[in-house]
Amino acid sequence: MSSQKLVGISEIAELAGVTKQAVANWRHRFDHFPKPGQTLQAGPVWDAEVIADWLKAKDGYQTKVISFINLKGGVAKTTTSVAVAEILAKDFRKHVLFIDLDPQTNATINLIGEEEWGKRDKDGRTLAQLFKDKLRPDAKPVFNVEESIIRGVSTIDGGISRLDLLPSSIEFIDIQEKLPFVAMQGNYENNPQDILRRALAPVIDRYDFVIIDCPPSLGIVTKNGLRFSTHYVIPAIPDIVSTWGIFQIVSSIDAFSDSINRAPPIRPIGIVATKVQGNIDLHQRVLAQLREGRLFEGKETDLTQPPLFTASIAQNANTARGADADAGLNTFRKKYGPNYEPHLALTKEIIDRCNPAKN
Ligand SMILES: Nc1ncnc2c1ncn2[C@@H]1O[C@H](COP(=O)(O)OP(=O)(O)OP(=O)(O)O)[C@@H](O)[C@H]1O
Ligand SMILES: [Mg+2]
Repeated sequence: MSSQKLVGISEIAELAGVTKQAVANWRHRFDHFPKPGQTLQAGPVWDAEVIADWLKAKDGYQTKVISFINLKGGVAKTTTSVAVAEILAKDFRKHVLFIDLDPQTNATINLIGEEEWGKRDKDGRTLAQLFKDKLRPDAKPVFNVEESIIRGVSTIDGGISRLDLLPSSIEFIDIQEKLPFVAMQGNYENNPQDILRRALAPVIDRYDFVIIDCPPSLGIVTKNGLRFSTHYVIPAIPDIVSTWGIFQIVSSIDAFSDSINRAPPIRPIGIVATKVQGNIDLHQRVLAQLREGRLFEGKETDLTQPPLFTASIAQNANTARGADADAGLNTFRKKYGPNYEPHLALTKEIIDRCNPAKN
């Protein structure tokens, strides 16, 4: 008689300490999820040892959630986060969810165009609806996470199959002000900083990467994103005003991470220099300072400057035009011009820096 022990989805969920939904998500996401040994009437079953080995190996494959953040506006947070998400999904074949947390909706419009966004905004299929529901705890919730995720977005190829989007709405501006009072409206289970994480819990395991485009503020909507971010990237133009706030971001996120007892803490994986102009002396000086990790010099702090990424993104008119979803820019070359390769190199560095084996 064989001593082989068989396990079904429920037992795998129990072994891994996750929900059955999470196991179903892994089967979808990981090509290397073991094939079932048999399919019984009750469902598929696996060899328990094969599953145990796979779970051990999977530790390095936890969903990486990366916020792109800088308190300074106009430093290419949106352009960089969209490009990285597109490249992760298309060139690196990762399953990616892009979350647009900015009421300016730039990333949403970049990825799906204005017309499609308008339709979704009208019938409550944007993230703003999730937060609006919390402001009306007595009414029936309208937001539905599955219906709000738009699959296969991007202008590249008319849509990249592994890239999904949770769109934003201008209504976020209003919500941002009201949200702190959620807990006062008899809705005590709703920590106003934890709304997004809870809503995404059933779907997050489907993705290798979640990329979050943050507004240029550390308000409650941004904190909803940071609440479940594993890492963050700071895009910055290498000049005085754009790098001035970097210490503030790093120290604020460090304090936030502590306040919610995050272990491991939300990790800054790097600063990416954007809109770099080779002919400006100041840019070269600031780049040298960042490269040598000297930005926090002279400050009374234990924090170290996040390392500069080797790849940097040059100022380029073609890249600026890439945000127009209706311009027919259906290849990386058309959308990013000569900045495609630097974005590709940056994405590779991001993958490497998120990989615990290499850190
Ligand atoms: N490499 C580049 N070269 C030239 N222009 C660029 C480049 N990257 C971004 N831009 C342009 O700079 C402007 C700001 O970029 P983007 O919207 O990505 O910044 P942001 O940090 O997301 O801004 P905000 O703080 O408003 O959200 C946009 O008009 C964009 O098209
Ligand atoms: Mg932006």
